[in-house]
Amino acid sequence: MSEAKRLAGEKAIDYVEDGMIVGVGTGSTVAYFIDALATIRHRIGGAVSSSEQSSERLRAHGIDVLDLNASGPLPLYVDGADECDPHKRLIKGGGAALTREKIIAEASERFVCIIDPAKQVPVLGAFPLPVEVIPMARSLVTREILATTGGQPVWREGVKTDNGNWVLDIHGLSITDPVALEARINQIPGVVSVGLFARRPADVVIVGTPVPTVL
Ligand code: A5P
Repeated sequence: MSEAKRLAGEKAIDYVEDGMIVGVGTGSTVAYFIDALATIRHRIGGAVSSSEQSSERLRAHGIDVLDLNASGPLPLYVDGADECDPHKRLIKGGGAALTREKIIAEASERFVCIIDPAKQVPVLGAFPLPVEVIPMARSLVTREILATTGGQPVWREGVKTDNGNWVLDIHGLSITDPVALEARINQIPGVVSVGLFARRPADVVIVGTPVPTVL
């Protein structure tokens, strides 16, 4: 599996142009992208990172990590996913970095998603859908999700996001209208963000097959 992740991560370098400030996601596939980015670090303007974990890896490679407020809009964001449907809509947040990932995806002109083939699904939802919540709203959000989505939210106990919040994972969904579900969950008070990337899907998906497939 990690060979597929490596192939996808390295292929994404094709999208990096000289002088770019690159948005960088989080996860085991992105780790391969960061390692490949290090080989051309002198040609890029730096990176904006979606997590402390990725920032650490970038800095260890001598790549400057910049603040999104200072960088302004980004030309490119490269990130992994937990599930990807045929319309390039995604479930993300398995690593609890969904909110910063969503912010950087929104700020980026092109979102290149790098996955291994096991992440491709016809319909999103077999992977439990992560939702970042303000801690005091955990029970409220749980009740609202139960009442409005038909899914079963489970608190990811012991996990705190980089923003100091908690994560619920919604089990048992079959997401036939991801745009509508994303909007519905987003409007529950106490929800910081939901790991559905449907309103802003990926623009390009690279699947780490032996000759990487670009969708
Ligand atoms: C992080 O919160 C997630 O959104 C990651 O993008 C996702 O979990 C990446 O998965 P891999 O570790 O399989 O690349």
